Amino acid sequence: MNKFGKNIILVAALVISTPSQGEPDTRTPLNLPAQMEKHLLGSMRQHLEVINQILGMLGRDEFTEAAELAEAELGMSSLDKHGASHIAKFYPKASAQFGTNMHKAASRFARIAEEGDALVAYRAVGEITQNCVGCHATAKVR
Ligand code: HEC
Repeated sequence: MNKFGKNIILVAALVISTPSQGEPDTRTPLNLPAQMEKHLLGSMRQHLEVINQILGMLGRDEFTEAAELAEAELGMSSLDKHGASHIAKFYPKASAQFGTNMHKAASRFARIAEEGDALVAYRAVGEITQNCVGCHATAKVR
């Protein structure tokens, strides 16, 4: 294929993969106090790191480790750690629901991972991340 053809495919791929570009931004700004905003973003980066670690552990058949990490960092056991009760009142209802569902999905993942079936466990990771994506569509810090 010539260079022009390749560029067309690249541009088409970018347009398809970023449907939100150019669409109106309907996310609710949270307008958190500065310290809370900093804390939120820090814990978000931590969430991504945890998901990445979990995927690595599943790839190495470290099911128990993945279960423990998910429960401690993202599951229902992590609520106090993230100051969930403080931030919940700033979230619109839809965002808070994704938050609750994410914590529940992580605890569910932990129970499923313990059973040691990688494919089923990967599917359960997807149920966590769909709530990350869902909430991100509803809210932004500013
Ligand atoms: C209850 C809502 C909610 C859930 C659930 C959620 N996030 Fe977020 N996240 C946010 C908001 C709000 C922002 C700020 C986005 C903005 O202002 O553009 C954010 C930002 C981030 C950022 C950027 C951090 C930075 O420093 O800019 C990352 C990375 C992130 N989230 C990862 C995740 C991952 C991974 C998950 C799931 C395991 C997750 N989030 C679940 C609300 C959520």
